[in-house]
Amino acid sequence: MTAPAKPTVSLCFVCLGNICRSPTAEGVFAKLVTEAGLRDQITIDSAGTGAWHKGELADKRARQEASRRGMTLDSVARQFQAEDFDRFDLLIAMDRSNVGDLEALARTAEQRAKIRLFRSFDPLSPNDSEIPDPYYGDADGFARVFDLCTAAGGGLLAYVRSTYRL
Ligand code: 4NP
Repeated sequence: MTAPAKPTVSLCFVCLGNICRSPTAEGVFAKLVTEAGLRDQITIDSAGTGAWHKGELADKRARQEASRRGMTLDSVARQFQAEDFDRFDLLIAMDRSNVGDLEALARTAEQRAKIRLFRSFDPLSPNDSEIPDPYYGDADGFARVFDLCTAAGGGLLAYVRSTYRL
């Protein structure tokens, strides 16, 4: 009998509150990874640079949009910790301000090198494109976040497969 495959790569999606964009990115990417048959080999998590929503489920509007798409978002908000720089291979930020916040927390060049902007993996998006914060907007903004995460997630999965030979 062969032992179960150990995760080869670990990723953490990061936004501000960890209730809108990064839980959506986590859920969308987990679905893509599961469909690719790689769920045992890729660890996926999310976190917020802020602590305001610690312990909360994703925003109801994100969970409603997930349900419309046949998905469930079940992550519980947590604040990004300094240890996360060592726990994860890649830290995937939703916008440039999240990148700046993570860069300010990084202590080494190796830690800084793990920070990426999520949409940089979407070959069709211009340089420096962001996943816009939908928190103060309407349901359309949440649907758009799902679409943008799906496009960027496909590119991220291709990158991970080629970089880690999965
Ligand atoms: P997120 O959205 O960063 O995508 O989770 C936000 C959620 C809450 C707040 C800001 C952004 N807030 O200021 O409470």
